[in-house]
Amino acid sequence: MPKITFVDHAGKARTVEGVVGSTVMEAAIRNNVPGVDAECGGACACATCHVYVDGEWAAVVGPAQDMEQDMLDFASDVRATSRLCCQIRITPELDGLTVTTPARQG
Ligand code: FES
Repeated sequence: MPKITFVDHAGKARTVEGVVGSTVMEAAIRNNVPGVDAECGGACACATCHVYVDGEWAAVVGPAQDMEQDMLDFASDVRATSRLCCQIRITPELDGLTVTTPARQG
């Protein structure tokens, strides 16, 4: 199973196993990763699953689509590598993915 590492705003890393076909948000929730609230349950309607994709992974993960980009407008401290992790589908290629959760969600 692809491993995904979540780094919190203080630099503490937690590596969890993701299920191919599910989302990075679901991996976080299943493993009680702090900083990912996912209040809307993955409907792209809350922006509480905001993460920063690590630089080297940004091209692999790809950019946000239009609906996600609209929702990111409601998140704070949005950066070029911001994504809503409920919209990142886990594939085998994402093994080793690292994302950082924003301080506001910590
Ligand atoms: S869980 Fe609500 S936008 Fe991702």
